[in-house]
Amino acid sequence: MRGVSAVLSLGGCFNTTAGELRLNTDATAAQERGDKESMSLPQIDKEHLPRHIAIIMDGNGRWAKHHGVTRAAGHEAGAKSVRAVLEACRELDGIEVLTLYAFSTENWRRSQSEVETLFMLLSKYIRLELDEIHQEDIRITVMGRRDGLSENARADLERCEKLTADNRAMTLNLAVNYGGRGEIADAAQAIARAVKEGELDVNDIDEGCFARYLYVPDLPELDLLIRTSGEMRLSNFMLWQASYAEFVSAPTFWPDFRKQHLYEAIAAYQSRSRRFGGR
Ligand code: FPP
Repeated sequence: MRGVSAVLSLGGCFNTTAGELRLNTDATAAQERGDKESMSLPQIDKEHLPRHIAIIMDGNGRWAKHHGVTRAAGHEAGAKSVRAVLEACRELDGIEVLTLYAFSTENWRRSQSEVETLFMLLSKYIRLELDEIHQEDIRITVMGRRDGLSENARADLERCEKLTADNRAMTLNLAVNYGGRGEIADAAQAIARAVKEGELDVNDIDEGCFARYLYVPDLPELDLLIRTSGEMRLSNFMLWQASYAEFVSAPTFWPDFRKQHLYEAIAAYQSRSRRFGGR
């Protein structure tokens, strides 16, 4: 795509307590030491950052198995990666949106205790991080079906949206009870309703119009879609938005995913030639 033109300095903008982020792997500890020393990070061009990055956070269960701990512990370790990656995006100061696939409409098929763990972790994350996210001028948006969520989860998410609505530095978009097909079906339903009410003319339904009926309509185009743990599936994620996104499959399990891995994915994105179907 373009030549590499800038090496970034990595001054922290979050009050990261090192102990909070450290995981029980030598590799992660070494990598975090590396982060601190700004060592071995791939060079990325700060002038051509992806505006919108989405991540399918995969591999919590396999990470847990590998470490001989429960799946719940794997998800808990995964929640710590969320902080690290949001911090890395904020530091880059040019990534406008980070979308994270926190809970899919298919995840309800997991055991009740795993579902409860995932929502408990989401709630804990909000409790621990919301103030700092707000101070960092980050807006939180939520995409997914609200009606399937517990009252507590709905209230937590609405609190995030309300508190951060006017923040402008970047957007953290949380996909919760989200499915790509469901989003398209819900948009079609809303459009049909608008036509029926006389608010919309059938002849005005084009791609731009359709996109305005998605869950969070004001997001920039998705540029980079990352899936961790080496898997290469979309798993019903952002099917509309992913049309021209660059896909990067990162070999790292999500609980081990840190700034270094994000930089590698961005470097891969920047090495590609995006033609959007043209020549
Ligand atoms: C996939 O790993 C991960 C999930 C289904 C949930 C992701 C949730 C978190 C990281 C925690 C909370 C989220 C936020 C935003 C604070 P998997 O269980 O499918 O892994 P496996 O394929 O190895 O079993």
